[in-house]
Amino acid sequence: MSEATANIGVVGLAVMGSNLARNLASREGNTVAVFNRSRAKTDDLVAEHPEAGFVPSFSYEEFAASLQKPRTAIIMVKAGAGTDAVIDELVRVFEPGDIIVDGGNALFTDTIRREKAVRETGINFVGMGVSGGEEGALHGPSLMPGGSDESWVTLGPILRTIAAVAEGEPCVTHIGHDGAGHFVKMVHNGIEYADMQLIAEAYDLIRRGTGKSPAEIADVFAEWNHGELESYLIEITAEVLRQVDAETGKPLVDVIVDQAGAKGTGAWTVQTALDLGVPVSGIAEATFARSLSSHPEQREVSGSLPGPLESLTVDDADAFIEDVRLALFASKIVAYSQGFDEIRAGAAQYGWDIDLGAVSKIWRAGCIIRAQFLNRIADAYAQTPDLAVLLTAPYFVEALERAQGSWRRIVATAATGGIPSPAFSSSLAYYDGLRAERLPAALIQGQRDFFGAHTYKRIDRPGTFHTLWSADRTEVEAEDTH
Ligand SMILES: NC(=O)c1ccc[n+]([C@@H]2O[C@H](COP(=O)([O-])OP(=O)(O)OC[C@H]3O[C@@H](n4cnc5c(N)ncnc54)[C@H](OP(=O)(O)O)[C@@H]3O)[C@@H](O)[C@H]2O)c1
Repeated sequence: MSEATANIGVVGLAVMGSNLARNLASREGNTVAVFNRSRAKTDDLVAEHPEAGFVPSFSYEEFAASLQKPRTAIIMVKAGAGTDAVIDELVRVFEPGDIIVDGGNALFTDTIRREKAVRETGINFVGMGVSGGEEGALHGPSLMPGGSDESWVTLGPILRTIAAVAEGEPCVTHIGHDGAGHFVKMVHNGIEYADMQLIAEAYDLIRRGTGKSPAEIADVFAEWNHGELESYLIEITAEVLRQVDAETGKPLVDVIVDQAGAKGTGAWTVQTALDLGVPVSGIAEATFARSLSSHPEQREVSGSLPGPLESLTVDDADAFIEDVRLALFASKIVAYSQGFDEIRAGAAQYGWDIDLGAVSKIWRAGCIIRAQFLNRIADAYAQTPDLAVLLTAPYFVEALERAQGSWRRIVATAATGGIPSPAFSSSLAYYDGLRAERLPAALIQGQRDFFGAHTYKRIDRPGTFHTLWSADRTEVEAEDTH
């Protein structure tokens, strides 16, 4: 049996787990125990990184014995059944007061279930969102831990040392209890989907509108990255567009099959939003756009459907590109506003006390959606913590005022030119929907009352009403059957 020399352990040594273990080992004061189901990954990691001083184990019993109390272990294994299998083993060898952290991409409802079950044994269970991919895990991820206040006391100091740092502040905060961390990570990924789709639409419009090459458009994105759009995703877009395929000499983007994959977190964000009744239309359109792209059989039979008679022509390329930039910025504001709305609604539904400003701050570095812009979101919540709609904060109102003419022109131009821009156009529709003094929802209430006696409210007096549609069409007071 090993001596209890490690203050933290990692279970699951594939790319994420091994990088996180190396990150932990590189920080002063940490001794890291490591364990993997199949022995080879442990042996390789220990052999390749002697500098890390890892404490390897080859059974769960040995792993538990190598950890100081309260034992703290981060699980980084394939989400789903793999996570449950490892939790069962750790619960078997751990003791009350110990801490099990799941750093995989778990669905937050699974985390709520697991936390409840593990808590009954006296062991703490923390679901933690980890963003930033393999590079982030190694050099500093953005970390979104949920779980109990008690586990945060032990975990907080360790996590602060390994997280990314933005303007001197570590990108980690205790998000809230049980599944709150994984919920916020899920919405982070949903926003990532929307942001990527918006950037892709901007690229497509510029390419088809101006005829510029991918390398020329890379220059446009590189320039945008010096302004209010500055972000990791804009930066890597320029890199990808500039890449030339060594085999064909063509831009790499032109030899990549145009079918976007997904690992499911975008779909979770949308499914959860539907349950919560939160309109995250930008994230939904981004998720559906990936689905549409991935049906070649449908696209093939649809290629001859009629389109506009004339293709898009742009007279002033520079002015057009500036319009696209502003449309992208405005749509991005909508996507983030919708995402934060989902977090607000999730917190209310599940009883989490989530500080939305703190969430925006821990996304400023380490994660995929890191951007300057997140400082403005933090400012907005600092000024008005209970802000009902993020995009009504003064900074965003000014930006939308500046952008809306361009945004409308771009959506109209895309529609006329037959260029799909689902995220641009749905964001604008959401914005106009929020602004509208009256919505045609009144007509929908009339229709619902007609066919289903679902009743309606009146604008001029309290109560609930029903029109006797199949009788004499007089109005009667009714019970609210919404
Ligand atoms: N890749 C990313 O950019 C990224 C970013 C954030 C979060 N994540 C999440 O981080 C986690 C790890 O990701 P990854 O890409 O490093 O690894 P992965 O490919 O998702 O999973 C492989 C690891 O899971 C272990 N495993 C699978 N089933 C197991 C079981 N029943 N019992 C014990 N161990 C089991 C494997 O052990 P064996 O070696 O024995 O097969 C291996 O260590 C996942 O939940 C992933 O969603 C990934």
